[in-house]
Amino acid sequence: MTEPTPASVAVVGASGGPYDHPADAAARSAGERKIALDAIAAEVRGCRRCPLSSGRTQAVPGEGDPDTEVVFVGEGPGFNEDRQGRPFVGRAGELLVRLLATLGWRREEVFITNVVKCRPPDNRDPEPSEIAACAPYLQRQLEVLDPALVVTLGRHSMARFMPGARIGAAHGTMAPVDASTGVTDALVYALYHPAAALRSTEVERQSFADVAGIPAALLEARRRRDLARAPRSAETPATSDAPEPSDPTLF
Ligand code: URA
Ligand code: SF4
Repeated sequence: MTEPTPASVAVVGASGGPYDHPADAAARSAGERKIALDAIAAEVRGCRRCPLSSGRTQAVPGEGDPDTEVVFVGEGPGFNEDRQGRPFVGRAGELLVRLLATLGWRREEVFITNVVKCRPPDNRDPEPSEIAACAPYLQRQLEVLDPALVVTLGRHSMARFMPGARIGAAHGTMAPVDASTGVTDALVYALYHPAAALRSTEVERQSFADVAGIPAALLEARRRRDLARAPRSAETPATSDAPEPSDPTLF
């Protein structure tokens, strides 16, 4: 069986056919997604909603394929990310690229972002108030991207999508995502943070093992999503219960 690749344009998936976002009422085209993501990124770059704005060189909104099925969510920008305005471009990013490469995936094929978009001073953990202030941006990005699978990198990201889980038990496992996060009909898959893997060969070894479980999680996410989004029976008018697309310009 071919390993599934995150859909961008028309990739032959494990189901044997090209996979793309379903053309339902709420789905945006890749072009519309890009415009909406660029608008969010512009807001993030000018944001002053929390004190992290005063210490940043550049905000880091996130980047990737607007039409991907898989979104990776890290914790927050570090030194190099703050300088370059791009996520995961330092040593942790190099490891993330190596982890993706074991699946035959490139970073450009997925979307990569963080829970907080500005660097916490001295790479300290983000405060709950900072995470809360920044949460609407991640939520809106996820609403636009509509991923089938969210991959969390580290505890702070995992906490948003698997409330109450402990990383030591949850790494390498999947769970359904609550729609309050901005994603519907999606699964979350937890990984250790790549920076933790850089500090421990055991965590690094485990991270490679966990990443190997991502394709199966993506297949399961697609299966569940297809079931949840399958057209109802002929008696049900197709449009009556379709959700309104959420407005990306509103918090
Ligand atoms: N660590 C993170 O959590 N995010 C980045 O973008 C870089 C390092
Ligand atoms: Fe705004 Fe988020 Fe940056 Fe805080 S961390 S200033 S909420 S973009």
